[in-house]
Amino acid sequence: VSERTLVLVKPDGVSRGLVGEVIARIERKGLKLAALELRTADRAVAEEHYAEHAGKSFYGDLVEFITGGPLVAIVVEGTRAISAFRQLAGGTDPVEKATPGTIRGDFGLEVQFNLVHGSDSPESADREIKIWFPSL
Ligand code: CMP
Repeated sequence: VSERTLVLVKPDGVSRGLVGEVIARIERKGLKLAALELRTADRAVAEEHYAEHAGKSFYGDLVEFITGGPLVAIVVEGTRAISAFRQLAGGTDPVEKATPGTIRGDFGLEVQFNLVHGSDSPESADREIKIWFPSL
């Protein structure tokens, strides 16, 4: 069953020059790029995207960070795309959870600067794709 998921290469991934690396891994996995845009998120988009974290201790820093520079938003499509991308990304904590061979495990050190985002469920994917690509 083909699915769509929303992937972000966060500002840390863009500033470190890892956009190509992330896209290469998505493509080599066999997933397809359905939409892709380099943009700087405004506050409204960031707060909508991270609505479920509103009120958490790290929320303010997270919104500052995600709006702090250009990011790449991608709609990724393919069989089991949601879990397939989460497998590529590795766990949220790049050191304690993500294993070597994953994007975060290979390139990350800090939870906040964990390089990529991927939707965690079909409901999140639908919601997030509407936020970033309202015309899709
Ligand atoms: P992401 O998958 O985009 O979803 C929520 C984000 O919040 C997560 O990646 C991290 O970047 C960030 N995050 C989660 N937990 C923490 C934390 N304890 N401290 C700072 N940032 C966090």
